Amino acid sequence: KRIIIINGPNLNLLGKREPEIYGADSFEEFLKKLQIKNPELHIDYYQSNIEGKLVSKIQQADSDFDGILLNAAAYTHTSVAIHDAIGAITTPVVEIHISNIYKREEFRHKSIISSKCVGMISGLGLKGYQLGLNYFKN
Ligand code: DQA
Repeated sequence: KRIIIINGPNLNLLGKREPEIYGADSFEEFLKKLQIKNPELHIDYYQSNIEGKLVSKIQQADSDFDGILLNAAAYTHTSVAIHDAIGAITTPVVEIHISNIYKREEFRHKSIISSKCVGMISGLGLKGYQLGLNYFKN
C-alpha cells in the first residue's frame, strides 16, 4: 500500500521546536526509521507551512495513495479549506497529533477536521504515526 504523511505548519522544526512537547527527533530522522520498520508500505512524506499547498496535496493524494496520515498542526483548529479537501476525497485520512490537544490550551481542544477523518490519534508522541500506519496494514 502507498501511504503519504502530510505535516502542516512548523512541523519542519520538529526536534528544535519546544522539545519538551514535541520531542527531540527531527521528522526526517524519524521517517527513515518508519520506512525501515514498515518495508511492506511505500511511505511518502510532504510538509508545508502553507494552507493552500496542503489543500492541493490532499486533493492530489486521492488518486496517488491508499491512505493519508495528516498532522495539520495549527490548521487543525482553523482551516475550513482543509476540512473541505478531506471531505472531497475518498482516500481515508487519519488525523495525527503528537501532543494531547485536550491537555493544552483551550483553542487546541477543537479540531475542525476530525469530522472528515476516519479517526484521530493524539498525545502518543511520534509513535502516533506508527499507530496510524498500522491502521492501513492488512
Ligand atoms: C499539533 C498540535 C497543534 O495544536 C499544534 O498547533 C501543532 C502540532 C501536534 O502534533 O501535537 O503545531 O498538531
